[in-house]
Amino acid sequence: MRKRILTGDRPTGPLHLGHYVGSLQNRVRLQDEYDTYVLIADVQALTDNFERPEMLEANVIEVTLDYLAVGLDPEKVKIVVQSMVPELTELTIYFMNLVTVATLERNPTLKEEIKQRNFTKGIPVGFWSYPISQAADITIFKADLVPVGEDQLPMIEQTREIVRRFNRLYKKILIEPRAMLGRVARLPGTDGGTKMSKSLGNCINLGDSPEQIRKRVMSMFTDPLRIHATDPGRVEGNPVFTYHNVFNPDKAEVEDLEERYRKGTVGDVEVKEKLYKALSAFLEPIRERRNQFAAKPEQVREIIIEGTRKGRALAQQTMDEVRSAMKIKYALG
Ligand code: TRP
Repeated sequence: MRKRILTGDRPTGPLHLGHYVGSLQNRVRLQDEYDTYVLIADVQALTDNFERPEMLEANVIEVTLDYLAVGLDPEKVKIVVQSMVPELTELTIYFMNLVTVATLERNPTLKEEIKQRNFTKGIPVGFWSYPISQAADITIFKADLVPVGEDQLPMIEQTREIVRRFNRLYKKILIEPRAMLGRVARLPGTDGGTKMSKSLGNCINLGDSPEQIRKRVMSMFTDPLRIHATDPGRVEGNPVFTYHNVFNPDKAEVEDLEERYRKGTVGDVEVKEKLYKALSAFLEPIRERRNQFAAKPEQVREIIIEGTRKGRALAQQTMDEVRSAMKIKYALG
């Protein structure tokens, strides 16, 4: 049987370059080789957006368009909407017995996100326990491989722990998944921050127009110690060069720019102009494909419905095994 991939995204807004290098690229590359399920995690998105659920529906479509735009083939990949697979909720509840409060409290990604969100009325239990529901996401589809960005590694580790406990305690039916990091595990933001992230407003989105790309690139953070174009500059840790290295296929041009930047014989503007060119060339076909699908909303809807139907059937099958393993499949039905 073909090995399986499950990964997903919260539909809180459009996907960006960080998503691309962290995970989307791997999904596209592996879609022929793996039986691939991609989860639009709207239930998880609710955990910190429960006060404005009305933003979810449009974003489910936006994220789907991003998937199709980067080249996920709906003939091969199942796009699944999380809230339409209620079995996930059930599995989450069973998994809750297998996780301690202390383990959740140690999860570094969760800690970081809680700090960022600055919950004023305390941490909602739903948010705090989302690593458990994410473990259900991964295991209900019996995924072998989870292509994700670096920040998701603690979630995969948590999943592996739950699987080991479940299999030991009940019956060996769940699969211990492996994470797969992207070519660039963590893309810095345009502000030079450690991570490109919607909530930090330092993104270049996959569907951005040339004007938007240009504006973001030209205002990018470079080397704060370099004041004049004739000052020697730093290439390491400079996000403009990080992006050049990731997205500019003309390696000779990048090397030349790096060399001149270090010597102080090239200005920021030229380096950025060339980055803009490289990024536009990269994003143009993605934007075009996005527009083509956006013009056919009925087809997009069909893709989601069909993917979700297949995903749910698989989830139901796993839950049947889970209930048997847990001896809660009574002869009463
Ligand atoms: N937590 C992921 C994110 O914030 C989204 C997600 C939900 C996910 N369920 C998943 C990722 C299962 C991988 C596997 O982007």
